[in-house]
Amino acid sequence: MFDVNKIRKDFPILERKIWGDKQLIYLDNAATTQKPKIVIDAIVQYYETYNANIHRGVHKLAEEATAAYENVREKVKKYVSCDSNSEIVFTRNTTESINLLAYSLGESFSEGDEILLTEMEHHSNIVPWYLLRNRKKVNIKFAPITDQYELDYEKLEKLITKKTKVISITHKSNVLGTVNDIKKIAKLAKTNGSILIVDAAQSAPHMKIDFSDLGCDFLAFSSHKMCGPTGVGLLVGKKELFEKMSPFLGGGEMIRKVTFEDFTTNDVPWKFEAGTPNIADVIAFGVALDYIQKIGLDSIYKHEIELTQYALTKLRKFDFLKIYAPADVNKHAGIITFANPVVHPHDIATIVDQEGIAIRAGHHCAQPLMKKLGVSATSRASLYFYNTKDEIDVFIGALQKAFDYFELGACKELKEKVGERISK
Ligand code: ALA
Repeated sequence: MFDVNKIRKDFPILERKIWGDKQLIYLDNAATTQKPKIVIDAIVQYYETYNANIHRGVHKLAEEATAAYENVREKVKKYVSCDSNSEIVFTRNTTESINLLAYSLGESFSEGDEILLTEMEHHSNIVPWYLLRNRKKVNIKFAPITDQYELDYEKLEKLITKKTKVISITHKSNVLGTVNDIKKIAKLAKTNGSILIVDAAQSAPHMKIDFSDLGCDFLAFSSHKMCGPTGVGLLVGKKELFEKMSPFLGGGEMIRKVTFEDFTTNDVPWKFEAGTPNIADVIAFGVALDYIQKIGLDSIYKHEIELTQYALTKLRKFDFLKIYAPADVNKHAGIITFANPVVHPHDIATIVDQEGIAIRAGHHCAQPLMKKLGVSATSRASLYFYNTKDEIDVFIGALQKAFDYFELGACKELKEKVGERISK
């Protein structure tokens, strides 16, 4: 049974006091999540008992480290329901996974080919394509969002042409929380012969992901947003596509043979894992995956929906505040982004920090989306399964303090301004 108080005991950092006596309330989980002790212990255990390089030595330590590292591919395979371990490449983070794709897929693209993104992408799913555009003169298009903060699927469909080589889209927006209908887009991509890439950085930690069922060609996500260490990214992709792609980085491990004249590449996935990888953290990520699955993704999702609903009901009482989210809470579980036209989000984040509460304020690595929303920044509270209703209550109390300080409740003009922005 899901018992949040019991779960919280697994996370040493949740005991931490901030600014003397304020209990830490961590609501910045979309940036990175906290780590349970067993994940931290797995890193220590690797370095204390079987630290060795993998795939190279024949000694006992090397064999143990190699087996532990490769075993994590098996765990990822089960987590995302893909067909084989060869479909799983370890990178440093989601950003690197998408850079790998933009570079390696892009090698075969030519001037005038098109890449279709959306207005709600993180910089990590925009800038790698701009880099490709600078190399290959491809055109980049952005499918718009509606005034309900959802993807405009009709307009997206109209932007797909015979030149659309890639559609690359977030599964769940890190700002709006909006969960996109990947299966619907996968059908369009398949009919058109376009490759579909899904940035699952914000979805894989919170909901069941079935790679085969989603129908995409590639899926990218990060360990550190799902109780694992930083420095481990995942790239799940169709084997036949990986086989056709050129390598991203060159060096040891990614080769089969090197001569004074040339080289041949290793099999996938190792063809894309040049150099010594982040062995300890990959192994600890495997422990994080086991941990999350033991809690259960259904329970995690249910808890986050309940908490989001609870927080929204309280937040909506601040009628001078604009919440950037789809109306249906099921479409943005765990992420609540808000702002008002007078107080800078950084000021709000700084004031709630004085109460021990961590939220993120700023452009959230999504400057084009901020432009679309007509703001330079927002505040964002992002939840995970270890957050509680009591924490939300403290957060709402801290926000009340901040708003009282700025006398927002008394400002009639402000409500009108928020109204104007809503109708935009
Ligand atoms: N992508 C992370 C966030 O949204 C860093 O905060």
